[in-house]
This record gives sequence, C-alpha cells and structure tokens, in this order.
Amino acid sequence: MKSLVAFFSAGGTTAGLAKKIAGMTGSDLFEIVPEQPYTPEDLDWTNPEARCNREFRSGEDVPVSGQIESLDEYELIFLGFPIWYECAPNIINTFCKAYDWTGKSVALFATSGGSEMGETEAKLMPFMPGAKIVHTQVMPGGGEPKASKETAGNKGGKKHKHGKHK
Ligand SMILES: Cc1cc2nc3c(=O)[nH]c(=O)nc-3n(C[C@H](O)[C@H](O)[C@H](O)COP(=O)(O)O)c2cc1C
Repeated sequence: MKSLVAFFSAGGTTAGLAKKIAGMTGSDLFEIVPEQPYTPEDLDWTNPEARCNREFRSGEDVPVSGQIESLDEYELIFLGFPIWYECAPNIINTFCKAYDWTGKSVALFATSGGSEMGETEAKLMPFMPGAKIVHTQVMPGGGEPKASKETAGNKGGKKHKHGKHK
C-alpha cells in the first residue's frame, strides 16, 4: 500500500514530525506551501490585523503553490498541520478542496501549543468528502501560547480585549 505524508508547517515543528512519519512509514512527502509565504509579522496573532487573524476571521482560501501529481496512487494519506485557532489552518481546507478523496484513508496529525484536535476533524470533513479518517493525533509543538477566536479580534477589526496578551 502506497502512502503519502502531506503537511503544512509555518515554523518547522510540524515539518520535523512529518519527516519522521514519512521515514518511519516509507511514505512519499509533500509540503503544502502557500503561494505567498508567511512572514513572522503575518503570524503575529497578538496583532488583530496580522494576516493570520484576517484569514481566520474571513475563512478565505490560502492558495497553495504546486500540487500532488496524482493522489490516485495513494491509499493512505497522513495529513499534518499546526493547530491554529483550535482548528486546521485555512490552507489545509484549500489543499483538501483540490483533490478527490473518495475511498482514501486519512490520518490527521498536528502539533500545537497545547490544544487538542477538538472540532478539527468535523470542520475539515466537508472539504474531503468520501475520505475515511483512520487516526487523529496531536503532538506538543513549539510551546507558543494559544491564539483563539478572541485574540483574532472582532469582525470589525477592533483591537482584542485581552490586554494581558499585549
Ligand atoms: C496563528 C497561530 C495560531 C495558533 N493557534 C493555536 C491554538 O489555537 N492552540 C494551540 O495550542 N496552539 C496554537 N498555535 C501554536 C502552534 O500550533 C504550534 O506552535 C505549532 O507547533 C506550530 O507548528 P509549525 O512550527 O509547524 O508551524 C498557533 C500558532 C499560530 C502562529
């Protein structure tokens, strides 16, 4: 059975885990790279106007650079990402929309600063109809504090209320 590890990683933690899983399972590796790379400013979730917060609030797609030639040849796909806002980053939704997942077995893995998968799987499923989730697992990540709906700011782009986050 041929397997693939597809992953997105902004800071390298999930990338490290993805490479380990690929090595252990003999899987091919595909990095999900945004067309527009994230800068450190883009990821500053303490700033309500940072790209990460704007994308979270809008739910917009994040275009992916390149694509997997043929997902058909894989029966099992390990799909990895950092937990953002207690969920998968938008780019994972965008990635999933590009392929036919019918009959695929999918193992979700993530790194986080402490959050569990929560509703991640349920929110992802509409973008991968026909896939069967066979496993989900979160590993400790970079130990960053949690970003949440609250820290992402309000729809109106007002400053978030939590002064303790600076
Ligand atoms: C925009 C953003 C949102 C985040 N949201 C959460 C979160 O909701 N819960 C959590 O435990 N960690 C959160 N984190 C921390 C990351 O999940 C964690 O550091 C992860 O290991 C980073 O993986 P990477 O280095 O592969 O990008 C967030 C990080 C960023 C940049």
